Amino acid sequence: MTEITANTTFSQQINQILRIPSPLQKLNDKIFDEKSIKVFVKRDDLIHPEISGNKWRKLKYNLLNASHLGYRSILTFGGAYSNHIYATAAAGKYFDFETIGIIRGDELNINSSQTLKFATECGMKLHFVTRNDYRAMRENPQNHPLIQSFIHSKIVPEGGTNESALGGVGEMVDEITEQLGYAPDYIICPVGTGGTISGIIAKSAIKTQVIGICVLKNGHYLQEEVSRLVESNVGYQKHNFEILWDCHHGGYAKKTPQLMNFIEAFYEKYSFEIEYIYSGKMFFAFDELIKSKIMPNSTVVLIHTGGIQGLQLKNE
Ligand SMILES: Cc1ncc(COP(=O)(O)O)c(C=O)c1O
Repeated sequence: MTEITANTTFSQQINQILRIPSPLQKLNDKIFDEKSIKVFVKRDDLIHPEISGNKWRKLKYNLLNASHLGYRSILTFGGAYSNHIYATAAAGKYFDFETIGIIRGDELNINSSQTLKFATECGMKLHFVTRNDYRAMRENPQNHPLIQSFIHSKIVPEGGTNESALGGVGEMVDEITEQLGYAPDYIICPVGTGGTISGIIAKSAIKTQVIGICVLKNGHYLQEEVSRLVESNVGYQKHNFEILWDCHHGGYAKKTPQLMNFIEAFYEKYSFEIEYIYSGKMFFAFDELIKSKIMPNSTVVLIHTGGIQGLQLKNE
């Protein structure tokens, strides 16, 4: 793939629209002090109200690559509540790309969710397909007649996870190192499709242990996918990571009363929002890890990957 660096106009636009670097916020708690552990949150949720968190990180080089290759149209995939569909539609609006969304579920329409309504308002053209067709297109997009009809569009996979995504996520790791003045001992993030953790592992120092909190019930296949993505990015295998599989609270987008109580208490304590699909499960898991796994005298950075807008829309 051609090596892309952010061209000036695009960089200027990014600086005007987005809050980069995102803040690194220190969290305080008695147990952190007792163990001499410094805990920070990388507030990627504050990058932009509509293109927030890991969505921007994963989209950045997908958009730059598309632009460099002469594409003015992005085609991507997702469900009715997809944060990625939402962010891609918004990015298209701000960075002047035509956007096309292939949506899972031919029973749906643009009014089926606030996310789909928002995407349409941003100018995204939605195509509703059966679950079987969706799977076929996602696995082998080039072979499907509907996708073939969009030859002028750059295809970005579901969740925005591909090789191009890793570069943007890696820049977040550089920001952390610069903000701290050193590489942290741990970086912790939620894991859905595996792109975010892969970008973090690829760019992190070998001394940094990367811990992923898998939010899916049967996500074990992600171990291989993450290893493959990291190797394709750095050219060799890295082993400074671990994905925890039992922190999903019943499965993707499932919640338990304990999780919801925890999220409420978290908000009361720290005055910023986390949601139950990704960041809530990560912070909940961290509450246990701090007692069992995190070494005294270490520095931990947790990644707030955004998604707050999706939750608010879901609740409307
Ligand atoms: C808000 C949010 N956090 C975390 C993730 C998980 O990231 P990844 O799919 O790169 O593993 C997602 C999904 O992309 C997400 O929407």
